[in-house]
Amino acid sequence: MIENKRQKMDENEIRITVEAHPNIALIKYWGKKSETEMTPLNDSISLAIDIFHAKTTLTARRVEEGEESVDTVSINGREITLNTRFNRVFKSVRDRLDSSWSFSISSSTNFPVAAGLASSAAGFAAIAFALGKAFDLSQTDIERLARYGSGSASRSGLPGLVQWKKGDEKEESSVLSHFPSSHWPDLRLVILVVKDEEKSISSKEGMERTARTSELLQDRIRRNPARIQGIIDSFASRDFSTLAELTMRDSNEFHAVCLDSYPPIQYLNTTSWSIINLVHSFNKESVRAAYTFDAGPNACIFTLKEYMDEFVSLVHSSFSIGDSIEKELRSVHISTLGDGPKVVE
Ligand code: DP6
Repeated sequence: MIENKRQKMDENEIRITVEAHPNIALIKYWGKKSETEMTPLNDSISLAIDIFHAKTTLTARRVEEGEESVDTVSINGREITLNTRFNRVFKSVRDRLDSSWSFSISSSTNFPVAAGLASSAAGFAAIAFALGKAFDLSQTDIERLARYGSGSASRSGLPGLVQWKKGDEKEESSVLSHFPSSHWPDLRLVILVVKDEEKSISSKEGMERTARTSELLQDRIRRNPARIQGIIDSFASRDFSTLAELTMRDSNEFHAVCLDSYPPIQYLNTTSWSIINLVHSFNKESVRAAYTFDAGPNACIFTLKEYMDEFVSLVHSSFSIGDSIEKELRSVHISTLGDGPKVVE
């Protein structure tokens, strides 16, 4: 149970600061059933990345009668123009409250937003959680708010191994945590930030195109329930090689449906492919590492504590790493599994 540290400045102002982790999907969400409800075509399952977080302060102010509410959001010190997703999140909260409030969000991330490390997932999960704590909203409401911001954000609302269920006519789409992060303390994540010059297609646009044009997507959706169950079972028994193979196959299949979209969508670059080949050669004798790639060239590698040093040395000897233009990787980050959001101030 999370302690309620919400600071009520007075009846007219609430301030709260929270932290939420980004997550990385082992079985990926790709394609929406409903753009309005932000419901997915398939279930997905993910783990939170402990070393990274978005730290978000929400200041909610009561608005006088007749006065219009003005919301603001700044990310890493820069004020952003609110798009329909932010507006929808704020409107959904206002619709539930008996009086008018305006919301001001100030968020900072300890990882590069442009690196494509699911920053929107951590960001919207933090905003939804902060609004939920400030106004005593239910877990279902918090999940829905996060999802309205970005589908994958709903998975950052819970600890450990988290499944986002697509829902159906009878049951609303929802998230559930199968195991806390402490279930598998030796599991490690190695994040390889790949130098990327290309401006890639956003997830929103990419999944719309895939859903509209890819025939392979139907096969992927059919296979999804068995894959999800495979991840839950292998995580339960800490069966690394099964978890690893399912994760790599799903990543490959996700990028295959992107290529099957028309026109095709390419998220992996030559460095991403070198990482894939490196992992398979590392796994020659036995499966000791798994890669997964979201909608961009960066890799997230799963491995176990006992293999980590060897894998990281291999990365250092195989790639040039640094900020300058000729380097292949920008940076390497090592993490354990993360938990759900928490109130920090
Ligand atoms: C490839 O959650 O960013 O990372 O719901 O349109 O905001 P929207 O998309 P988003 O998509 C994430 C796609 C993915 C796979 C995943 O995280 O499951």
